[in-house]
Amino acid sequence: MSNFNQQRSRYGTYSTQWDYVQDRFGEKDLLPFSISDTDFMIPDGTIDVLDQAVTRGFFGYTRWNHLDYKESISRWFQQEFACPIDPEWCVYAPSVIYSLSVCIQLLSQKGDKVVTFTPCYDAFFNCISGNERELIAFSLTNKDEQFSIDFTALEKVLATEKPAIFLLCNPHNPTGRVFTEEELTCLIALCNQYRVAIISDEIHMDVRRPGKKHLPIMTFADQIDVPVVLLSSASKTFNSPGLGGSYGIFSDETLREKFLSILKGRDGLSSIPYPALLATMDCYNNQKKWVEELNQTIDENFAELKKILADDPRIRFEIPEATYLGWINIADLPYTMDELQQVLVKQEKVAIMKGETYGKEGEHYLRFNLGAPKGKIIDGAERLMRAIRYLDGRPS
Ligand SMILES: Cc1ncc(COP(=O)(O)O)c(C=O)c1O
Repeated sequence: MSNFNQQRSRYGTYSTQWDYVQDRFGEKDLLPFSISDTDFMIPDGTIDVLDQAVTRGFFGYTRWNHLDYKESISRWFQQEFACPIDPEWCVYAPSVIYSLSVCIQLLSQKGDKVVTFTPCYDAFFNCISGNERELIAFSLTNKDEQFSIDFTALEKVLATEKPAIFLLCNPHNPTGRVFTEEELTCLIALCNQYRVAIISDEIHMDVRRPGKKHLPIMTFADQIDVPVVLLSSASKTFNSPGLGGSYGIFSDETLREKFLSILKGRDGLSSIPYPALLATMDCYNNQKKWVEELNQTIDENFAELKKILADDPRIRFEIPEATYLGWINIADLPYTMDELQQVLVKQEKVAIMKGETYGKEGEHYLRFNLGAPKGKIIDGAERLMRAIRYLDGRPS
């Protein structure tokens, strides 16, 4: 478990979260709890596989379109989620957000509307507007930090706005919701009724609290009679976005072929980075136990964070069902986000994301990344509490 217990320096790796913290927070050398990668090394076995490839030294154009790659993905879905996937449905892509962009182009026209639950992962905003589509933000209902879907309101939105696409994020970043069978069934029924294509981003699927069951959208493939695509990657779970690589799962051959023709033809991306190919296959084929240890670590981190935040009854925080991202409601503190961030950054030297990054619903929230050894989580949470105590003690 040393990978999960011991904090190692990531400085000097061109790390966005550590080396370039100043870009987001205006100061260098902050302890970061910000963008969603983790401070864990990829599994030892995967490091060995990459080591051997580096030693051999061949990095020519590399093919992903073979069963070794595609079956590693389909077997993972079967093993982890009891979700049958035909390996032929799987297609490599450089990143989930690249695929999202292409799928938006394939499934809608300029000016069309795309609905998503908000708050939401911030790259969704840019991807939708960058493709000249209109975002319809549908707020999740928040009752005491339990987030749910108001299906009556959602139906009205689908009926009146006539969106082309429903962009689902399941498990949901930043609230951590794992949508239930009932919720997904209702959502699919509405998308069928109002002819709304479904894009499901499931990149957070492997990191969940005990007992929380993830249901990939393809579990319901038989019930969906609109275009549907599942986007995911091993990179979130295994902390390998620096290697590149993700995949789309397209049950419909025509849509899959259209995606492939854009990937390979228009965008010139026929070849997968060899390290990304090797890492995805090794992680999915051999690293289930590593994921169990990761989840155990994240569960313990959440318990620590909850304990520390409970000292201040003005902070509302519930451990989420999935992800390694804490969504902390600080609306009851009598300080603005800017006042708090000023003390966090300047005095406590800590970088915790402002919730407003994820939409207006996040205005009074912090998003705290728990993907690190426990010692760092405790340190960060204590810095947050000290910042609040400092503000409380200031002469008004
Ligand atoms: C919901 C969600 N989708 C996609 C991504 C990014 O995936 P990629 O780097 O493969 O585009 C993230 C990263 O934080 C995410 O949280």
